Amino acid sequence: MRRKYFAALCLAALTLSSRAQKSVPITINADKVTAQVKPTMWGVFFEDINMGADGGLYAELIKNRSFEFGMPLMGWTVKGKNLKEGDALVLNRQQQQQANPRFLRLNVRNASSKNDVILNNEGFRGIGTKKGLSYDFSIMYRQASPGVKLHVELQDEKGNAIGESVLIPAESGAEWHKQGVSLTCKATVLKGKFQIWFEGNGTIDLDMISLFPGDTWKSRKGGLRADMVQMLADMKPGFIRFPGGCIVEGRDLSNRYMWKKTLGPVEDRELNINRWNTEFKHRLTTDYYQTYGLGFFEYFQMAEDIGAEPLPIINCGMACQFNTAEVVPMEQLGPYVQDALDLVEFANGAVTTTWGKKRAEMGHPAPFNLKMMGIGNENWGPQYLERLVVFTKALKEKYPEIKIVNSSGTDPNGDRFDYLNASLRKNKADLIDEHYYRAPEWFLSNATRYDSYDKKGSKVFAGEYAAQSDGIAKPTNQNNWRTAIAEAAFMTGLERNADVVNMASYAPLFAHVDGWQWTPDMIWVDDLHVYGTPNYYVQKMYSLYKGTSVVGISLNNKVVAGQDSLYASAVVDAKTNELIVKVVNASANAQTRSIQIKSAKKLPVSAINTYITNDLKAVNSFEKSTNVSPQDERIAVKGKNLALTLKPYSFNIVRLQLK
Ligand code: AHR
Repeated sequence: MRRKYFAALCLAALTLSSRAQKSVPITINADKVTAQVKPTMWGVFFEDINMGADGGLYAELIKNRSFEFGMPLMGWTVKGKNLKEGDALVLNRQQQQQANPRFLRLNVRNASSKNDVILNNEGFRGIGTKKGLSYDFSIMYRQASPGVKLHVELQDEKGNAIGESVLIPAESGAEWHKQGVSLTCKATVLKGKFQIWFEGNGTIDLDMISLFPGDTWKSRKGGLRADMVQMLADMKPGFIRFPGGCIVEGRDLSNRYMWKKTLGPVEDRELNINRWNTEFKHRLTTDYYQTYGLGFFEYFQMAEDIGAEPLPIINCGMACQFNTAEVVPMEQLGPYVQDALDLVEFANGAVTTTWGKKRAEMGHPAPFNLKMMGIGNENWGPQYLERLVVFTKALKEKYPEIKIVNSSGTDPNGDRFDYLNASLRKNKADLIDEHYYRAPEWFLSNATRYDSYDKKGSKVFAGEYAAQSDGIAKPTNQNNWRTAIAEAAFMTGLERNADVVNMASYAPLFAHVDGWQWTPDMIWVDDLHVYGTPNYYVQKMYSLYKGTSVVGISLNNKVVAGQDSLYASAVVDAKTNELIVKVVNASANAQTRSIQIKSAKKLPVSAINTYITNDLKAVNSFEKSTNVSPQDERIAVKGKNLALTLKPYSFNIVRLQLK
C-alpha cells in the first residue's frame, strides 16, 4: 500500500517535472546566509541493541566470561572423560565480590590428553578468527598449589585447532591472579570456537576467561572492534549519543543503565541483563547481557578518538514506559540527580575531585570536555516533566554551561508530543529530542516540517529517525534505497533549518546479522565483517559535507521540497571555501536542471557531483557492500550556471570551489 502511494507520488511529480524542468531553474544565492550549521549537526546514536556492544563493538570474543549470566554456564560446555559428579562447580562468593560473585571450580584429575577435562565457549554466534592475527587470552585463577596447565585453543567450525598456546598458572595460594598468553591464528574462520583443555592434577578456580583479537581499535588491550569504530570515524560525526535508547531506562528501574557501575577494572563491573534480551518474541536473544566492558570511560574515549562531541543520556528516574513504566518517587530522586551531577565531574572535573580522579585513574587525566547531556531517553507525560524540572535546576545551578537535551516522547506528533513540546518550549528547554520511525512517504512529506518552527525558541535534536520499509523490527524491514533516499530528502529540510535543528542522528546504529532485535539499522556486522547500508552512505555524505552556513536555494521562489519530486538545500563551507548543493531527485526519471548561482565570488569551470542512484529496492550486503554507495562525476559550470542532470532516484551533492 505504502509502496503504491510512493510510486504514485513519484509519478505525479514526474509528469510535472517533464513539463517544468526546461523552464524553471533552481536558484541559489550563495551570499545570502540564512543560518549557521553547528559542528554538531550530523552525529551518531549508539545503543547496545542488536548486539551492538557485547558481541559487537566491544571486541571480547568469549561469551559469559565471568559466569554471571542468569544461567551461569550459558555459552559454555564443561566435559571430559575424567570429570566426575561435583568436579565442575559454579561457586558464588556473594559476600566478598558483589559485582562479580560467581566463578568456576574445576577438579582436574590425571588429565593428560585433550579428552580428559575440557571447557568450550561458543562465542557470540561463533568466534570470528583471522589468519596470522595474534589473540590475547587472559584469565583470573586461584589454586592452592600448582598442578594444572591450561591448553588454550582456537578451533574452526569442525573443531580443528587453528591456534594454540599453553598457560601455566604461575601463582598459588589463597589470592586470585590474572595471567595471560597470546596465540596466533592459522586460519580465517567466521564461526570458530574456543577451547581450554586441562592437563595435570589439582583444583583450580577460574573467572574472567577472556579472549581479544590483537587488532583492536588503536591497539588498546581489551578494546573495541577496529572495523566498526572505523565506520564511525569515516563519517566524521559531530557527536555521539550513548548509551541509548531504551537501554538507559531499563525494563524496570533496577535494570536501568547506571554509568558508575561501568567504570574501573572490568572484573569489578557488575553485569546487567540487556533489556532487549526478551523484548521481541520473534527475536528472543536470551544470551544478551551487558558486561559494560564498553562503559562510560570507553564511550568518552571513543568520542574523543573520532572527534565527536559526547552526548551521554542519563536515566531520569523512570523505567521504559513500554515495559514496567516504574517511576522513582519524587522524594527518592536525589541519587539519580546526583548521578547527573557526578557525570559532569567525571567528564570535566579536575583530577583532585572525586570523579575527576576516577577518570584520571582510568588513564585520562585531561577532561573530556562534556558540553551536553540528555535527561531521560524517550520518556513522556507529566511524570517526566516533574522529574526533569529537578534535574534541570540542579544541573543549571552547578553547571550552567551544560546544554540539556529533553525528551519529547516516542512520536513526532499526537497528544503526547504536543503536550511535551508545548511545555518544554514554555520552560525554554535547550534542546528537544524528537524521534520518528515512519514510512518513507512521511519523510518526503515532512521535508518542510521545520520551516515553520520558531527560530528563536528551543532547538531541536532529531535524535532518532529511520524510514521504515515495513513494520519496525520485522525481518522484512529493509535498509533499501527507498528508505535512504527518503531520509536524504527529509534531511534537506533539517539542513535548511539548521538554526532550529542543531543535531540529528539515525537510529539504531549497529546490528549483528545473527543477533539483531530491531530493523532497520545503519551498519550491519557479523563476527568478521561490516558493511554500511544505503542509509549509512546518506548519513556519511551529509556529515562529510555539512558546511558552515546555510544559504538560500529556491525553485519558483519557494523552498525546494517536493516540487517536481525535487528536494534541495545548500551550504557554504568557510573552511574549504566551497558551495555545497544537496539535491534529491525522488522521481523515476532523469531530470536536467539548470542551477543558477548568485555569488560575489568567482565560480570555477567545473564542479564535483558525488551522487548515489539506484533502484528503490536496492540494498547492500556483505557480498555487495557498496552496491548502493556514492560515485563522483565532474560537471561543467558555465559562468554562473550549472546544468545538472539528476539521475533517477538520486541523491546528489555538488561541490563548487569558490574563488
Ligand atoms: O532505536 C531503537 C529504540 O527506539 C530506542 O531504544 C528507543 O529510544 C526508541 O524507541
